Amino acid sequence: MQAHSKHAIRALLCLLLAAAGTSANALDGATLYKEKTCVSCHGENGNNPVLPAYPKLGGQNPEYLFQQLKDIKSGVRTNAMTAAMQGIIQNVDMEEMRVIAIWLGTLSAE
Ligand code: HEC
Repeated sequence: MQAHSKHAIRALLCLLLAAAGTSANALDGATLYKEKTCVSCHGENGNNPVLPAYPKLGGQNPEYLFQQLKDIKSGVRTNAMTAAMQGIIQNVDMEEMRVIAIWLGTLSAE
């Protein structure tokens, strides 16, 4: 069971990496994170949020982050704080979300 889910996670990650590698060569997670203004709320390295209630992102699983970004963009995820993300995420496409999520996953968690 555990080995099985590890395998599934690895397969998913490969898919994400492959997708990012093929058509997003020019995209760089660290640059996008600044250009798309993510840094202004989530802070340097994703772990220094401007408000204590904002989530830390560095070191989180890329698959999880990517799913949250898609859910926030589509409106599936919504709560009292989601509005802060809504305007921003409409200007980030699927490929960019993947690249940022993978980059955030490479950072160390705090
Ligand atoms: C104006 C402030 C603000 C900006 C700019 C912003 N975020 Fe967020 N972000 C938030 C808040 C607040 C939440 C919590 C929303 C919720 O709970 O639904 C959040 C949630 C998230 C989550 C979900 C985290 C989790 O643990 O589930 C991710 C991933 C994320 N942001 C990534 C980004 C990325 C990538 C960018 C840039 C494209 C960005 N954010 C820009 C404020 C911001």
